[in-house]
Amino acid sequence: MKVLFIGDIVGSIGRDTVEDYLPRLKRKYQPDVIIANGENAASGRGITKKLFQELLYMGVDVVTMGNHTWDQKEIFDFIDDTDYLIRPANFSDEAPGKGMTTITKNGHTLSVINLHGRTFLPPHDDPFKKATELVKEAKQLSPLIFVDFHAEATSEKIAMGWHLDGEVSTVVGTHTHVQTADARIFPKGTAYITDVGMTGPYDGVLGMKKEEVLYRFQTNMPARFEVPKSGRSVISAFFVDLDNQTGKANSFERIYINEDYPFRG
Ligand SMILES: [Fe+2]
Ligand SMILES: [Fe+2]
Repeated sequence: MKVLFIGDIVGSIGRDTVEDYLPRLKRKYQPDVIIANGENAASGRGITKKLFQELLYMGVDVVTMGNHTWDQKEIFDFIDDTDYLIRPANFSDEAPGKGMTTITKNGHTLSVINLHGRTFLPPHDDPFKKATELVKEAKQLSPLIFVDFHAEATSEKIAMGWHLDGEVSTVVGTHTHVQTADARIFPKGTAYITDVGMTGPYDGVLGMKKEEVLYRFQTNMPARFEVPKSGRSVISAFFVDLDNQTGKANSFERIYINEDYPFRG
């Protein structure tokens, strides 16, 4: 099974960039399943029903979330009605929605798990313990398991990669919005990258307009961060080719496209 994962889609530039590049990425990589992190789809903060449906229409099969899951209040009205929008599984048991889903394509089933880090982030339930629980459940169905670990600290993400090596097909990190150069396959067959990076404005700071961010760094005064509405864009993604029988990764590719790193078909 071939899986394409698109890193945090930020605002309208992010959505337009997915729409623009996805047909070319599909032609080049022929993915069976497309997963995208949508926690910043609505002007950097959460996702609405309309934007979720837009991503599905573009060809995304499963949308994962993160610390911005609840930023758009309308998510409470539809998260329980769909199997294809998941939020971190180690949120409180009281939280609506779910943290794992499955998708079947071309006769093979993939489980997708979303987890949230706890280092430099709010104290959610233990993601390592939750991962073990969910993997046990997912394995009953299929060895093809994909994890989006939404976390701040590189160390916590690498530790999760080792924790799940040989247990899942792929662990990708999201949240920091900057792609890391450490993609690899761990010894027991799990593909891994510390952070896939973001999809959206290229000339801001992590997807936000640079002026307000610079002001805050220089003055320590509050400033409301906004996503630019126009300008250059970047798409960050991760592709994996998985063995359907063992669930192990055969190969991977880091995808990073912008004006400085143009698309090569
Ligand atoms: Fe994000
Ligand atoms: Fe995040």
